[in-house]
Amino acid sequence: MKRTYPMLTAEEAAALVHHDEVIGFSGFTPAGAAKVIPTAIAANARIQHAAGRPFKVGVITGASTGPSLDGELANADAIKFRTPYQSNKDLRDSINAGKTHFFDMHLSLLPQYVRYGFLGELDWAIVEAADVSVDGKILLTTSVGAAPTFLTQAKRILIEVNSRHPKELLGFHDIYEPQSPPHRRPIPICNAEDRIGTQRVWVDPKKIVGIVESNREDEVKEFTPVTDITTRIGEHVAEFLAAELRNGHIPKDFLPIQSGVGNVANAVLSAMGAHPEIPRFQMYTEVIQDSVIDLIQQDRCSFVSGSSLTLSNSVLQGVYDHLESYRGRMLLRPQEITNNPEIVRRIGIISINTALEADIFGNINSTHVLGQKMMNGIGGSGDFTRNAYISIFTCPSTAKGGNISAIVPMCSHMDHSEHSVQVLVTEHGVADLRGKDPRERASAIIRNCVDPSYQDLLWTYFKLTENGHTPQSFRSAFAFHETFLQSGDMHDTKF
Ligand code: COA
Repeated sequence: MKRTYPMLTAEEAAALVHHDEVIGFSGFTPAGAAKVIPTAIAANARIQHAAGRPFKVGVITGASTGPSLDGELANADAIKFRTPYQSNKDLRDSINAGKTHFFDMHLSLLPQYVRYGFLGELDWAIVEAADVSVDGKILLTTSVGAAPTFLTQAKRILIEVNSRHPKELLGFHDIYEPQSPPHRRPIPICNAEDRIGTQRVWVDPKKIVGIVESNREDEVKEFTPVTDITTRIGEHVAEFLAAELRNGHIPKDFLPIQSGVGNVANAVLSAMGAHPEIPRFQMYTEVIQDSVIDLIQQDRCSFVSGSSLTLSNSVLQGVYDHLESYRGRMLLRPQEITNNPEIVRRIGIISINTALEADIFGNINSTHVLGQKMMNGIGGSGDFTRNAYISIFTCPSTAKGGNISAIVPMCSHMDHSEHSVQVLVTEHGVADLRGKDPRERASAIIRNCVDPSYQDLLWTYFKLTENGHTPQSFRSAFAFHETFLQSGDMHDTKF
């Protein structure tokens, strides 16, 4: 039976959402995030609070979102809990003030957590779409993330149909949800290009309670230009990979690349594109940033599979203006598939992610500033790192004008252990940790990656105790951090 849907204003849609309900919003980064309905929900929350009524909702997304979603809801004090990832300053402040409950999850796990009911029932899916058919087929926009799972699992659905995104996006998505155990079959991707699902998400049209029209741009921040430091990091990664190719560790036609988010990741991709020995390569990644579009245009990247087109507005418009030239060269998939450990291991991904902090034994902190304050979350870095063919972490060797050494005796928070981290790269060089015991790893990291102004301190720490397989001093392991909190400069550390 043909069906049309009620057309609602954002305010009418928001009024349907009640205190204590749980919402799955589309969005994987600000790309494809719902915008007008969450902003209206935040406005309603303010009205309810002013009237003395409680109003908070559980907020689940694919990953981070933009100011219209996380920013507005955080500022309205309308978030009961938040998962799996965020990068909004206002929300971060609320989390670090202990006002918003945030649980930081591996992104590949989020959809199955929702399906298994680990997060309770989902009252709403609120999703941005380019088009919706009368029989419930939804064409997503610039991201897939966890939207297919939210749409199939939620009791009711609200859709923002955003006319900024062309209907010709049909064919750029590959929607696939694995079955739940014990019935799960192998996910049939053996190559980054393999298409395994549908072009649209299919839902029961009776669940769609309304459509809100929108014309809002994605709220993707412009990247800061590459710096001397990020350029050097990128060049070290590219040269390391070229050497791996020369010595036969990487096959001649190369392996798919996963690249993390942020400015270092952009610089690494640019350097790989510029390296004469690195052949044209594929990407099987999570976030497709501006630099990937450059690589496609230069014909250095032959194909990219990801969960979001996280592009600055001018670059996205350029893609839309020449959409047909990208058809067959990119696919957007659910995060459960882009980050799937089974596929990462099978197709031999080279993962490149950014650390906040590393320790001399090769453990990585990606999330917590000085062990206490949440930055963004682990995102997909764990999904890829643990299962990669080669796992690489990059970071500038220092932060805060040199007063923080990014390499410390012991990480103040642990996201990726020494067992998963194979290579560490800073602007000073590369520490290849494969096949090395903890003492050998510490020597390689201090020698090759640590800023010269911190090397003596870290050698001193390393020699404090001769005991054990991993020589640690409990008394001094966090001396760098304690000193920074007291004097504002890790250089003042005394052991
Ligand atoms: N101690 C304290 N602060 C530190 C620090 C350290 N060791 N290292 C960096 N910082 C600070 C920086 O000074 C900066 O602070 P500011 O915002 O006040 O200027 C901030 O942390 C972020 O550093 P920046 O260099 O701008 O970060 P980035 O854009 O390169 O991102 C991560 C780095 C780690 C925050 C980011 O990559 C991330 O969130 N990673 C986890 C998720 C992930 O890896 N996702 C990809 C998987 S596909």
